[in-house]
Formats: sequence, C-alpha cells, structure tokens
Amino acid sequence: MTSAPSDALEATRTRLSRVDGQAGELIIGGFRLEDLAPRATFEEVIFLLWNDRLPTATELADLRDRLAQERVLAPAARDSLRAAVGRGVRSMDALRLAVESQAIEAPTASDDSPAAWLAQAERLVARMPMLAAAYARLRAGLEPIAPPREIGHAAAYLYALRGELADSHAVRALETYFNTVIDHGLNASTFTARVVASTHSDMVAAVAAALAALKGPLHGGAPGPALAMMEEIERRQKESGRSLEGETEAYVRETVAGGGRLMGFGHRVYKVRDPRADVLGRAADGLASDPERAAFLNRAKVIEQVTLRVLEEVKPGRQLRTNVEFYTAMLLQCIGLPPDLFTPTFAVARVAGWTAHILEQRFDGRLIRPLEVYIGAERRAWVPLESRQHAEG
Ligand code: CMC
Repeated sequence: MTSAPSDALEATRTRLSRVDGQAGELIIGGFRLEDLAPRATFEEVIFLLWNDRLPTATELADLRDRLAQERVLAPAARDSLRAAVGRGVRSMDALRLAVESQAIEAPTASDDSPAAWLAQAERLVARMPMLAAAYARLRAGLEPIAPPREIGHAAAYLYALRGELADSHAVRALETYFNTVIDHGLNASTFTARVVASTHSDMVAAVAAALAALKGPLHGGAPGPALAMMEEIERRQKESGRSLEGETEAYVRETVAGGGRLMGFGHRVYKVRDPRADVLGRAADGLASDPERAAFLNRAKVIEQVTLRVLEEVKPGRQLRTNVEFYTAMLLQCIGLPPDLFTPTFAVARVAGWTAHILEQRFDGRLIRPLEVYIGAERRAWVPLESRQHAEG
C-alpha cells in the first residue's frame, strides 16, 4: 500500500487525503472533496478510507449493520460519563475519559492482527456518537437513549441526542459535514494518532491521544468562537441600531485595530480558498427551507461578505478567506447542536479518519521519530553543589 518514508524530514506516507493549499483543493481517498462530500453517505467514506475503494451495495449494507450493532453505550463508558457530568467535566475531557474506559470494557487483546485492529476501529467509530450524545443528555438530566438499528450514522447521532428522528435536510447536512471533516492530511490530532500507532501501542490509546490533541483551541476548538463572534456582532447591532453591514464593518475594523483575529477567516495552508468552507456553505443552504434557519444563514452571509471586504482593505495581500470553522459553526448551529458539542461532533467524524491513519501507520508504516533542532548549551563543566554560588547560565 504505502511505502516507508525516504528521509528523516518526511514523517510518514499516506494514501488517505491530500491538502493542496495553492490550488485550494482537498482530495479524500482520491476524490475531490466537492465530488465526494455532498453525495456520499458517511459509511461509504469510512469504507473508502479503510479499504481504498468505494464499497459495493452488499459491502455497504454489511458495514452499516456492523456499525449499528456496535452503536451501544458500554457500562464502563456510561459510568465514566455519569461521573464526569457529576463533576462538571467539560465535553472533550468527558469524551476522552469515556473512550479510555474502553480499555476496561475490552482489555488490550493478545490478538494483534489487522482484523483485530479493524474491529477496534469499527467499535470506536460506532461508539463515538453514542458517547457525545450520552454526555449531552446526562448533562441535561436525561437518560442516554439508543437509536434504531436501521438508520445511518449521522441520523443515529441526532437520534441519540434528541430521542427522535431528525428531518432529512438536517441529516444530509450533518452527513456532508462528517464527510468534509473526516480527514485532512497530517493535522495535529492525526499526527498524534499516527505517532502512538507507530510505537505499536493500541487503537484505543491512539484515539484517546488524538482526542487530547483535538481539544486544543488551535485545532478543534475554533467553531465555538466563530459563532460567538456572530452573536457579538448581532448583540452590538441591537444596541446601536445600526445596519448589520455597518455593525460588522465597525466590529472588523475595531478587532483588527486592536490586534485581534476574525474567527473563521484565514488559513495557514489554504490561500486561494478553503474548499471545505465552500462545501459546508452549500450544505447549510440545504437547510434554508426553514425560515428561521434561512434568516440566520442570510445574516451569516452578510457578516461573511462584509468581513472579507474589510479584511481585504485593512490586511491587503494577506489572502484571508473564509475557513472551514465559519461554516461549521453556522451549519451545526442550524442543525441545533449546542456550541460545546461542536468539537465532540468534529470528533464523531474525525475518529474515522484517525482510525484509517492508525491502521495505515501500524501495518504499513514505521516508528515515527522526527529530528529535533537542539538549541541548548553544549558541554558544560559540572559544578558540585557546594561550589554553586548563583544560578548557573
Ligand atoms: N483576522 C485578522 N487578521 C488575520 C487573520 C484573521 N482571522 N488571520 C490572519 N490575519 C493577519 C495577521 O494579523 C497577519 O497580519 P500582519 O501581516 O499585518 O501581521 C497576517 O494576516 C498573517 O497572519 P499569520 O498569523 O502569520 O497567518 P497564519 O497563516 O499563521 O494564520 C490562522 C492562520 C488560521 C491561525 C489565522 O488566520 C487565524 O488566527 N484565524 C482565526 C482563527 C481561525 O479561524 N482558526 C481556524 C482555522 S481553520 C483550522 C483547520 O484547518 O482545521
């Protein structure tokens, strides 16, 4: 499948996804994001990453069945989530603890075969939505609830959260979101997962480590602040009585003048456009049949357009475009998810990408051991304790 990296600067090789910042393109399993995300079911994309090809109808039905069977809340996970909620533990920490409780449920098996690792991957992918949803329900004083077997992964997540079937527009939008964020090159959490897998540790440990990396605000934690920015602009607009355009312009100018950042804009790699923002923007449009959602999305687009125009003026040449987090926030808000579930929902999708990378690294890769650049002192002379007069340099 993949071959060993040729030199020490290359951390690993992957066939899973390619991020092309210059072209503004994301390739997942060989498909352009735009062709794949709005059309495929999430289960098809999971199969694609695990098997490097699309499934047949029978293979897809089998995978859907196996995931549905594994979509349960194990007793150790339930206990762990209950304890976490009781202590006010935040969503991403609660999710990681619940994933780690899988080590109690199914202690590391002696079977180290690819089939055993794949079975663990299926279990983790199937259970992640159950853990995130159970956390949300327990926190709201409700008991966790099992979704019906016959519905797909995205629909099952919404059912496990709400205890009722979601409308088909919301399910399609969430499925497109899952497909869009399932994998994204060697990002921080994926790299973390691969490092752990490269030591021949185990699947649960690698996914728990990835969750720890995803939690940070520089990685998975940005969509909440993007929504908060929009709410702040709207709050100020109500107070000032200005137009939304005028209030946004004032907000952007003030934020930039104060050295702040507009959340949901700019990207380290994508300079032409972030293809994920485009795909999610179109997916959000699919929710506009509801007048309240349509009005919310219209306001978001006004804020986006004014922000881009003013950024072009006050930060000329920086190529600041709308990024994935802006439309993630808008889409998940329209679906009705609370902001502190945005990052756990990201994890519900990304765990499929992590497990594909873990399998690839474990069975086709080698130990990841990057080089460091040492910038410390060289060859100091040892000074005995009694002779040290002051802090040594
Ligand atoms: N708002 C205002 N100014 C900005 C922004 C922004 N969002 N992003 C970059 N700039 C300016 C920055 O002030 C700097 O200006 P100057 O040259 O005058 O000092 C210039 O653009 C270059 O900034 P940089 O920090 O060197 O650029 P970067 O590539 O390191 O930053 C970024 C990338 C995503 C950290 C940044 O654009 C940012 O902070 N955005 C806001 C937070 C955000 O939306 N994060 C989610 C990113 S998508 C994550 C993912 O791919 O999963």
